[in-house]
Amino acid sequence: MNTLLTLIGNEMKKAFASCGYDEKFAQATVSNRPDLCQFQCNGAMAAAKEYHKAPIMIANDVVAKVDKAMFSKVEAVAPGFINMDLAPAFLTGYLEEMLLRGVYGYEKPEKQRVTVIDYGGANVAKPLHIGHLRPAVIGESIKRIYKFAGDKVIGDVHLGDWGLQIGQIIEELRDRKPELCYFDESYKGEYPKEAPFDISELEDIYPTASKKSKTDPEFAKRAHEATVKLQENYPPFRAIWQHIINVSVKDLKKNYDNLNVNFDLWLGESDAEPFIADMIDKMVKDGFAYESQGALVVDIAEEGDSKEYPPCIVRKSDGAAIYQTTDLATIIQRERDFKPDKYVYVADKRQDLHFLQVFRTAKKCGLVNEDKDLLFVGFGTVNGKDGKPFKTRDGGVMRLEYLITEINDEVYKKVMSGREMSEENARKIAKTVGLAALKYADLSNQAAKDYIFDIDRFTSFEGNTGPYILYTMVRIKSILAKYKENGGKDTKELKLKREDGSTREYKPSEISLMLNAARFNETVEKAYQETAPHKICQYIYDMSNAFNSFYHENRIMGEEDLVKQGEWIKLIETILHILEECIDMLGFEAPEQM
Ligand code: ARG
Repeated sequence: MNTLLTLIGNEMKKAFASCGYDEKFAQATVSNRPDLCQFQCNGAMAAAKEYHKAPIMIANDVVAKVDKAMFSKVEAVAPGFINMDLAPAFLTGYLEEMLLRGVYGYEKPEKQRVTVIDYGGANVAKPLHIGHLRPAVIGESIKRIYKFAGDKVIGDVHLGDWGLQIGQIIEELRDRKPELCYFDESYKGEYPKEAPFDISELEDIYPTASKKSKTDPEFAKRAHEATVKLQENYPPFRAIWQHIINVSVKDLKKNYDNLNVNFDLWLGESDAEPFIADMIDKMVKDGFAYESQGALVVDIAEEGDSKEYPPCIVRKSDGAAIYQTTDLATIIQRERDFKPDKYVYVADKRQDLHFLQVFRTAKKCGLVNEDKDLLFVGFGTVNGKDGKPFKTRDGGVMRLEYLITEINDEVYKKVMSGREMSEENARKIAKTVGLAALKYADLSNQAAKDYIFDIDRFTSFEGNTGPYILYTMVRIKSILAKYKENGGKDTKELKLKREDGSTREYKPSEISLMLNAARFNETVEKAYQETAPHKICQYIYDMSNAFNSFYHENRIMGEEDLVKQGEWIKLIETILHILEECIDMLGFEAPEQM
């Protein structure tokens, strides 16, 4: 279904053309002065130059030709603006059609695209911390937006499970438990099924090992060697690796579940391993990869670059695969399994050089076609109020689990304050609202921007927050419930548009609510095209504001004109459903009460 802007643009085109002016001047936009009009067209100003006429004359010509049924107001304003308001009957008709067509007027592209979204990016053996919040939350939302928009989407967590950290863990484990069979070179038996550590021990092993690597060169060397051996599939190290994965993934799944983040695939860097050797051989054979200081590299410089980019290392001098290697080989695996039209990677924006290297190398070496859509969505840092990366009170890294608990506790206090509710119910509500607070706070910022973590603000029921949106939805739910309780009609029988062509007075707040509802398709399209969840946030914030103004201006339940009341009920039910679609795309839900 065409967006409002397209329909208005088409109407303007007709009017421009019938006056003998070129259609290219007919573009309509949302008004930047909503106090004056809803939409505007500034084409008369540009046309004036081409036709050597005063812009106001052109605007007047056009206005005279415009279809009056569509607009309640079309006027030419000096020096040559055309200001427009849609007729309420046109708007209600548009909304009615939107409801008929399902998915609120959004039309999926004819050809379904296949998109792989690589997000989450947790590293095994390390607990999820605040740094993992954004890739999970943003990636999940992008996945849902793309799905809604019609793509076949494959979300892959792409675990960090093949790098140096595994070698470090292996050597730390050797230092702690040298008697284990994995370290006995003469051991010939089967390796135990049971892991020689549990999750809490593993979480202690990793940071110790990582610290040791920095201060103890002998340990660091061992860790490197262990990594290379693992990558050469040395059986005892493969066995330890498998234990690390099993113990860690179980814990990660639980944590991602708590965030309502679900991956279609739980693959990792290690799954690229079978593709690495052939990939590198081919890169060398084709003359793209060459040796430089012992390592194998591919130049990525392109004509027109404004700075110099270092080449992409595809194999280190000790033979180990690195981050770039596994990302490249993973592309081969994804091409084989899914033939995606598009790849979206969600990772820290400081990795932009890494992705530039990977994308250019992939294209140069023919892993994908030159025109493949490879997108890196780089996100900014979550900072504390001091503007530095957010830390716990004692200066440590904030674990995601604790962070969620803190938010939920805060919401719980708010839900409980000044009223009676069972603890169980309040806890349940707090969990739903807390997650919305956390996700909305993150998603409402443009991904690339840093933001300040502020529990107080995020959990406020007022302002541009998740709880405010949910509060609005709960308010609509309670009106709809009351309407039903009072014996109101089934909303399926209610209409927004009057069949008999009669009309009534519409206050600006109701018009603004209708306009917001009608912009759903345009909003989803933008969020999809620009891979921008924050557009959905802005939209539902505007929508909630529009609803609350409408709510305060009108006594919906007290309205005596029952036809009008029915139209209102239908409208707010539509608003609720649109908000539900939107928060689903953001990855959270609304409670029944709060
Ligand atoms: N594990 C990586 C990290 O912690 C993020 C992975 C992002 N995805 C990718 N395909 N490189 O930084």
